Amino acid sequence: MKKITIVGVGRVGESTAQILAQDELCQELVLLGRRDGVPQGVALDIHESSPLFRFDVKVTGATDPAAMSDSDLVIITAGLPRKPGMSRSDVLDANLQVLTSVVDDVLCYAPDSSLLIVSNPVDVLTYYAWKQTGWDRSRVFGLSGVLDSARMAGFIALETNFSTKDITAMVLGGHGDSMVPLPDYTCIRGIPVSQFMDQKTIDRIVKRTRQGGAEILALKQNSSAYNAPAASVASMVDAISRRRRRILPCVVPLEGEYGLDDIAMGVPVVLGKGGVEQVVELKLSKSEMALFQASSEQIRADLTKVVKGNENV
Ligand code: 2OP
Repeated sequence: MKKITIVGVGRVGESTAQILAQDELCQELVLLGRRDGVPQGVALDIHESSPLFRFDVKVTGATDPAAMSDSDLVIITAGLPRKPGMSRSDVLDANLQVLTSVVDDVLCYAPDSSLLIVSNPVDVLTYYAWKQTGWDRSRVFGLSGVLDSARMAGFIALETNFSTKDITAMVLGGHGDSMVPLPDYTCIRGIPVSQFMDQKTIDRIVKRTRQGGAEILALKQNSSAYNAPAASVASMVDAISRRRRRILPCVVPLEGEYGLDDIAMGVPVVLGKGGVEQVVELKLSKSEMALFQASSEQIRADLTKVVKGNENV
């Protein structure tokens, strides 16, 4: 990809920018912020690391949304992070307003780009970005399952002391307490994780995965996670930029898959040069499907809340 814009230079935006630059996932990286000086300072700081990390990416900061012109990808991290004790849905109203304004700018300055939504609640915001742009769903997707699956794999590595290189996890559904970790699709070098731990341990890891973001927020108090979110965004960008056709769990609008439509939530997708090239429908057990359905109802509840609150949405 030639040009990527990151909207929002908080900790997730800044950490994402550093990784994208270091991995040379684009030729030009624009950081867009609201307070003049901050995006410029972050961009200069990242640039000054380039001789050490040996990358040649043009990194600039701006407050004028016109700076996103001709972007191939716009990553939206702008918005309020939740505070300890809050759910991701608690920042819905504020962040939907931010998203709507940013998407207006994207339609004006980068109408041929794709959108990667990171701001929360990401399922609802991805849905509204899709509705507001009217674009094909291949161009509007969000970060959820890549992060949640990384957390689950990380917890399994702590439990088993096996290399994280051999652990792949799968987490679907909404990026919230109702997310659906799938132990049956979680392996260590292709071997089902159930061969290495009992059900009680698996259940404990599933529960910890659901609470992964909140656990970090409770420990840090003044900030939610940003290292793993940034690394997760970078792996999605890598799959697109390097045309890898990776199967990754991402938020995407559903059009009948899993028996659902007119909603956006985390499912396995093929991520490649065309963005979301395909949705992969897993064969789910009755209990897994019931959890997935319940997660969709949680998202619909938020969507309904928005419609009630904003008749004009
Ligand atoms: C998390 O789970 C910020 O939603 C992100 O850490």
